[in-house]
Amino acid sequence: MIIDPYNRVHNYLRISLTDNCNLRCFYCMPEEEYDFTPASRLMQPNEIETIAKQFVQLGVTKIRLTGGEPLVRKDAAAIITALSKLPVTLTLTTNALRLHHFTDVLTNAGIKSLNISLDTLQEEKFLLVTRRNEFKQVYNNIQLMLQRGFHVKVNVVVMKGLNENEILDFVAWTKEQPVHVRFIEFMPFTGNKWTSNKVFSYHEILELIQKQYAIIKLQDDAHDTAKAFQVPGHIGTFSVISTMTAPFCSTCNRLRLTADGKLKNCLFSKEETDLLTPLRNGADIIPLIHENIASKAKELGGQLTTNFETLHTDEIKNRSMITIGG
Ligand code: 5AD
Ligand code: SF4
Repeated sequence: MIIDPYNRVHNYLRISLTDNCNLRCFYCMPEEEYDFTPASRLMQPNEIETIAKQFVQLGVTKIRLTGGEPLVRKDAAAIITALSKLPVTLTLTTNALRLHHFTDVLTNAGIKSLNISLDTLQEEKFLLVTRRNEFKQVYNNIQLMLQRGFHVKVNVVVMKGLNENEILDFVAWTKEQPVHVRFIEFMPFTGNKWTSNKVFSYHEILELIQKQYAIIKLQDDAHDTAKAFQVPGHIGTFSVISTMTAPFCSTCNRLRLTADGKLKNCLFSKEETDLLTPLRNGADIIPLIHENIASKAKELGGQLTTNFETLHTDEIKNRSMITIGG
């Protein structure tokens, strides 16, 4: 088992397939000209499979594929199919743009649940956030996946002054459709223009919704990062991921593997452990995994505090979101 110094068992691995993306969300990609990792430095399908198997041997039971955008990789279907043969729950976080090419691959891989990133229901604002005019494609693909019976979670990064005025529209969406909207507090990453006054907090989100709706709290699972709610009578649900104001680190079971094969024990960790180079050199990576987890910090990578108003982003050492994978 993969156990850290705080006795947390890590059974959930998030694998980034690429740092490339077909959108350009300003809060995710650094502004300066960004060079995507060359293909030779990315984990190849057989390497992903080999590494994933080692994690399964160590007790991992859930794998999520992330990016960048995982479905821009030409060999995404082959990777999904290979990983679906492992005894794990396989899921995917995607921006939905290419999902219509993958419905059969996902179904055949036994994938039942998808996390889809969508921060606005307005076409012009979508263009502003992502710098691509693709709202309709994303929205239509969400409808397609709902029709196909997938459990669809919609990730909404809430940024004050940008989309907090759409929170009620997102909640209204859950009335007639079985979508599970997840409002995420805006988090700081290298190059993402985060400032503390753009955080619209868990508390503020609930307060705003409760002005309009009576809501009930739903039961969360032990390792859930989201606190779930429902408007009685709505078929979908909504939840809040309160990383900044009420972190859920004490129940963390997550590990991250970047597309270039580096293990990160926290979204906010400074350090990472290269697994890909040793694997290519024929070394045993299992001791490296244990070494990495032994240095996991108690909370927020040891770098952030919930007193986020006083945070200085230039003091935080991390990758940008697009190279971590969320
Ligand atoms: N703060 C909060 N969430 C973010 N995501 C990307 N960048 C940030 C950020 N700075 C979200 C994406 C995606 C998920 C993987 O992480 O919208 O849904
Ligand atoms: Fe792409 Fe997602 Fe980053 Fe947007 S947030 S640029 S969709 S990886």
